[in-house]
Amino acid sequence: MSEKKKVLLGVTGCIAAYKACEVLRLLQKADVDVKVVMTPSGAEFVTATTFRALSQHEVAIEPIAEYNSPIHHISLAQEPDVFLIAPATANTINKLAAGIADNLLTTTALATEAPIIIAPAMNVHMWRDPSTQAALDILRARGMEIIAPEVGYLACGDIGEGKLATVEEIAERTLAELRRCRDLEGQKMLVTAGPTREFLDPVRFISSPSSGLTGYLIAGEAARRGAEVHMVSGPVELPDPFDVNVIRVTSAQEMYEAVNQVYDEKQPEVAIFTAAVADFRPASKAEQKLKKGADLPGSAAQGIADEEATDESNIAPAYTLDLIPNPDILFSIAQRKGSCYVVGFAAESENIIENGFAKLNAKGADMIVANDISDPEIGFATEYNRWQLLSESGAEDTGTLSKRTLAGILLDRIANRQ
Ligand code: CTP
Repeated sequence: MSEKKKVLLGVTGCIAAYKACEVLRLLQKADVDVKVVMTPSGAEFVTATTFRALSQHEVAIEPIAEYNSPIHHISLAQEPDVFLIAPATANTINKLAAGIADNLLTTTALATEAPIIIAPAMNVHMWRDPSTQAALDILRARGMEIIAPEVGYLACGDIGEGKLATVEEIAERTLAELRRCRDLEGQKMLVTAGPTREFLDPVRFISSPSSGLTGYLIAGEAARRGAEVHMVSGPVELPDPFDVNVIRVTSAQEMYEAVNQVYDEKQPEVAIFTAAVADFRPASKAEQKLKKGADLPGSAAQGIADEEATDESNIAPAYTLDLIPNPDILFSIAQRKGSCYVVGFAAESENIIENGFAKLNAKGADMIVANDISDPEIGFATEYNRWQLLSESGAEDTGTLSKRTLAGILLDRIANRQ
C-alpha cells in the first residue's frame, strides 16, 4: 500500500479558524494525514486540544529547541507534501511576503520546499489594502497558490470580499495539488541546464548570459514530483536542487558526452534540453594566455587600418577567430529517442511560433518551448517568462508567469502526455 499523503495545515488567528477543523476532516476523509501548526493567536480562537484530537498528532505552536523533536520547524517543513495555510490573516500574508519568521508557522513556511497554498480570510478593507494585495502578488509570483476569499457578510459586520473560501473548495484544491505531487514517480528524466563555456585560452571563453534558473527549477520540481532526475549542467551559480543528480560540465563537447552517457545508462522516459549551448567553439585552445599583438594560434592576424592605430590608442592588431561547430546535443538524442519524450527550448527574437515549429521539425523533438528574447521584462536573468508550448497538438500560450510556475506547467503537460 502506498504511503499516505501528508498535509501540514497552518491555522492563524482569525474568526474563521474553526473552519480549519472541517478542512482537516475533509482531507482525512480523502485519506490524507494532516498535522497542524498554529500561530499563538490562532490558538486563541481554537485550542490545540481540538486539533490534537482531530489530527491525532501533537499540535505545533511554539518553536521547540530540541532538534530531534518531531515538531521542530525543520522537521515540520520537510515532512509535508503540501503546506496549506487556512485561514491566513493579512498579518501572516504580509509577513510571508517579507520573509519574516517570527513564529513557528511563518518559520516553517520559510523553511519548507513543499508547495504552499494560502486561503486568506480577513476584513474587506484589510483585503483591499495595497500592502495586502502587493504581498499576495509577491506570493503568487513565488509560485504559491492563493484561494481567493469570497464576498459575504464578514464577522466585523461589513459586507465584501474577505470571507474564507468554502471548506470544500479549499479541500478540493489541496487534493488537486497532492495529486500533482508524485505524478512523475517511476519516470527517469534527463535535463540539461545553464550555459557552456568555450575557451580560447586558459582565461577567456565564449558563453551566454544564461543563469540556468529554468533548468534548475524544472529539475527540482520534477524531483519533488517523484521523478528520478539527472541534470547535466554548465557553469552556474545555483545550488544543486534537492534530490537531483547533478553532473557538472563546462564545454558543449563535455555536455554532449555526459548527456549521451546518462542517456545510454539511464534510458530516461523524458529528456528536457534547457541549456544555452554555444553553437560554436574556437578551432583550437591556446595552452598559454594569448597576448595581444602576438601571433594568435587558430586565428588569422590582420593589421588594423593605419589611420585607426595611433600611438596614443595602444590598440592591438585585430584578429579573426576561427570557430568550428559544436555537436547539437538535443538533435543527437532526438535521432535515437525511441519512446523518450524530448523537449527542446527555442530562444527567438521574431516570428516566435513559426520559427519554433520549424525547430520542432528540424530537431525531431516532441515539444519545443519557444520564448521571445526581444522583451527585456522576461527571459534571460529575470524571474519571469512567457512560453509557447509547441507540439503536434498545436501551440499553447502560457502568458507571463514566474519561471517556477512555468516549470510546473511544463511538467503537467509532460505528466499528462499521450
Ligand atoms: N541545443 C543543444 N545543443 C546545441 C545547441 C542547442 O542541445 N549544440 C538545444 C538547446 O538546449 C535548446 C535547443 O537545442 O533546447 C535550441 O536549439 P537551437 O537550434 O540551437 O536554437 P537557438 O540557439 O535558438 O538556435 P538558432 O540560433 O539557430 O535559432
